[in-house]
Amino acid sequence: MADHSVVDTTADEHGIVDLAAMGERFSRDPYPVYAALRARGPVHRVRTPEGPLAWLVVGHRAVRDLLGDERLSKAWANASPEAGTNVVSAGTHMLVADPPDHTRLRKLIAKEFTPRRVAALEPRVREITDALLDAMLARPDGRADLVESLAFPLPISVICELLGVPSLDRERFRAWSDEVLGTAPADQKATSVRTLGGYLVQLLERCREDPGDDLLGALVRTSDEDGDQLSSDELLGMAWLLLIAGYETTVSLLANGTLALLRHPDQLAALRADPSLIEGAVEEMLRYDGPVEVSTYRFTTAPIEVGGTVIPGDGQLVLPVLADADRDPERFPDPDRFDIRRETRGHLAFGHGIHFCLGAPLARMEARIAFERLLERAPKLELDAHPDSLRWREGLLMRGVTGLPVRFG
Ligand code: HEM
Repeated sequence: MADHSVVDTTADEHGIVDLAAMGERFSRDPYPVYAALRARGPVHRVRTPEGPLAWLVVGHRAVRDLLGDERLSKAWANASPEAGTNVVSAGTHMLVADPPDHTRLRKLIAKEFTPRRVAALEPRVREITDALLDAMLARPDGRADLVESLAFPLPISVICELLGVPSLDRERFRAWSDEVLGTAPADQKATSVRTLGGYLVQLLERCREDPGDDLLGALVRTSDEDGDQLSSDELLGMAWLLLIAGYETTVSLLANGTLALLRHPDQLAALRADPSLIEGAVEEMLRYDGPVEVSTYRFTTAPIEVGGTVIPGDGQLVLPVLADADRDPERFPDPDRFDIRRETRGHLAFGHGIHFCLGAPLARMEARIAFERLLERAPKLELDAHPDSLRWREGLLMRGVTGLPVRFG
């Protein structure tokens, strides 16, 4: 539940609100800060916990409009020198590309990432979930960390199966990826980007020796047979994006979603009583405490006026806050209430416009199965820690608890 105690969102003498200085309290519950900013208007100059200054955009309408605004570019070549110091990916991929490159890349992957491929994975997702729950529920003390037991291993196993990388060194991959997406200093992040990039290049080399029928095999073949369609830099970017986007986010959906249910016993009871509510419940988890707090970086290529403020057009960093859009009372009445039966249409947890999440059907399927199996197999599931003691990921991009102690009786 949101902590609505007074938060100081006053701008300094340069008109900048210092989000970085708000520390752990902001990571734990950023919603009151965004709501206080929204009460003053849709656009705010902020210092981000990641370092750079940015134009933060709040409110459902402004966020949705900007996600569809062609004057915002995702290409780092368009970033101002000040904003452009924080590149956090290797290779070129869809989230760092504009049309026509973005269109070409998205078409290539959409051809392979088909509903059929996702549906074919469903029995495996159920098997993996059950095996993880077998191990968790066999613990003699009746306690576990749900992140370690289910929320982390399930999505990473699924994305590895989909891509065809059974040999991924998961723990090292997790550590690098967490650092890249967190608030480590820019030079430390750059080192992790290089290390993880080098690791993926080796992985692709191995795949090239014997490309299988899986997604990565298909992409490697495309790149080898038609480099005009997919260059080797883009192949690296694709592996990077699918692996990181494909698991980091889903971990948080499973963890934050479980937390929301455990903190709202009436909603948990309603879902247990009527499992057909599961799809709506997952959408509400995405709206209420979605994994992507603030969308990925966008840069202005022309001045943009929003709510009376003009954001200059010289590569300024613009950050639409998805988490606030989904708590805007103008779009969702009584937005801080977790209600699995509410109308959630129009939530922006998967983004909007040409960069709308490509993996949404996969994420939804994984979450549906994970929650169905978890609730069925752990009928006495409870939180095993005070909610205020939970740790949350730092940084604006990702929102998620880093651990979730539970008891299952
Ligand atoms: C609950 C889980 C997930 C959430 C909340 C989520 C959220 C998002 C969001 C908000 C964006 C747009 C970012 C922006 O516009 O700045 C996005 C893009 C993307 N997501 Fe997801 N995602 C999830 C799971 C996945 C999975 C499982 C995959 C792949 C296996 C995936 C692949 C992608 C890709 C490739 C893009 C870039 C699309 C483009 O630029 O055209 N995501 N995701």
